[in-house]
Amino acid sequence: MISTALIVGLATLSVGLVLAYLLRLLPTVRLQLVGLAFLAVLLPLGAVLVSGWVMFHMGDDVKILAVTAASALTAVVAALVVARSIADAVDRVREASGELARGSLDARAPTNGPVEVAELARTFNQMGENLQRLFDSRRELVAWASHDLRTPLANMQAMLEALEDGLAEPEEYVPALREQVAVLTQLVDDLFELARIDAEALTLQLRELPVAPVVSSSLRGVEAEARHRHVRLASDVDEELTARFAPEKVERVLMNLLTNALRHTPSDGVVAIRVESLAGEVRVAVEDTGEGLDAEAQARMFERFWRGDRSRTTRGAGLGLAIARGLVEAHGGRIWAEDREGGGARVCFTLPSG
Ligand SMILES: Nc1ncnc2c1ncn2[C@@H]1O[C@H](COP(=O)(O)OP(=O)(O)O)[C@@H](O)[C@H]1O
Ligand SMILES: [Mg+2]
Repeated sequence: MISTALIVGLATLSVGLVLAYLLRLLPTVRLQLVGLAFLAVLLPLGAVLVSGWVMFHMGDDVKILAVTAASALTAVVAALVVARSIADAVDRVREASGELARGSLDARAPTNGPVEVAELARTFNQMGENLQRLFDSRRELVAWASHDLRTPLANMQAMLEALEDGLAEPEEYVPALREQVAVLTQLVDDLFELARIDAEALTLQLRELPVAPVVSSSLRGVEAEARHRHVRLASDVDEELTARFAPEKVERVLMNLLTNALRHTPSDGVVAIRVESLAGEVRVAVEDTGEGLDAEAQARMFERFWRGDRSRTTRGAGLGLAIARGLVEAHGGRIWAEDREGGGARVCFTLPSG
């Protein structure tokens, strides 16, 4: 008796496993669910029939067959309904992804249906939004970049034409031409740096180093301009303080912040770098005694091509702070701007230490 039950049990288990495995070969979710419904009803009934036949030579087969047929039918109908709702939900995500693949970046999938499919639709929609944002910012970048490239090119064209027509002497225009070339070079360098940051190709050689030398070398870099503008440079940094950073990148960040600070500080003002050690990080602040930041500047100054003064056509394409942010974030730090107590602006960033 027990051995029969054991044999029937084991046989049911193995047949069930083989059939369940075969079910996975069916091509659609719908078919797999219907197959599963059949399996779930027919397998136990088959087992009951076999054991009944073995044990009692049971004669009531017709009743059992009727019950089998009825429950199988119910299970299949239920499976069809469920399969349809799942398959329809999946179809809607599939349609949306097809549209996206054909280039409609605004294709979105409805987020109803079973939790897993709804979750898939939500992730898909998020991907669509990110792609769209990326494309928009690319388009904007190209538009701004070509605008900013065109201005110095047009200036140079005009000067060259004037020279060709003999309307000016070369020595009159050579310094201005050189200046325009410098503007173009700076812009192309900035665009290249941004592209590298975007591609995350920035292979940072992070080393634990003292911060003081990079502070003094960037201050030296702006010394001449500060003297020219009658702005005093100051620094407050502990010689012992170290952080993990790539010196040439942090110097670039500091130069961008210092040039901005100098540009916004009236003569007899002060531009200062202060470095402090906080828990697990070092905070570097560049302060000035200029006009400070209005609400829009505070919110948008780190955006690409955003400038406070749109009318300024030469010098500064509004990329300096976007680059600074990219470089600081590549170090695992943060960058932000705030008002300085007593007037002026303070732009701070952190670097990991220890
Ligand atoms: N120290 C500062 N004080 C006031 N405004 C600032 C300061 N630094 C930056 N800004 C504002 O942020 C804008 C963006 O700066 P940035 O990205 O360096 O571009 P750019 O220097 O080419 O204008 C500047 O145009 C300016 O309006
Ligand atoms: Mg700048």
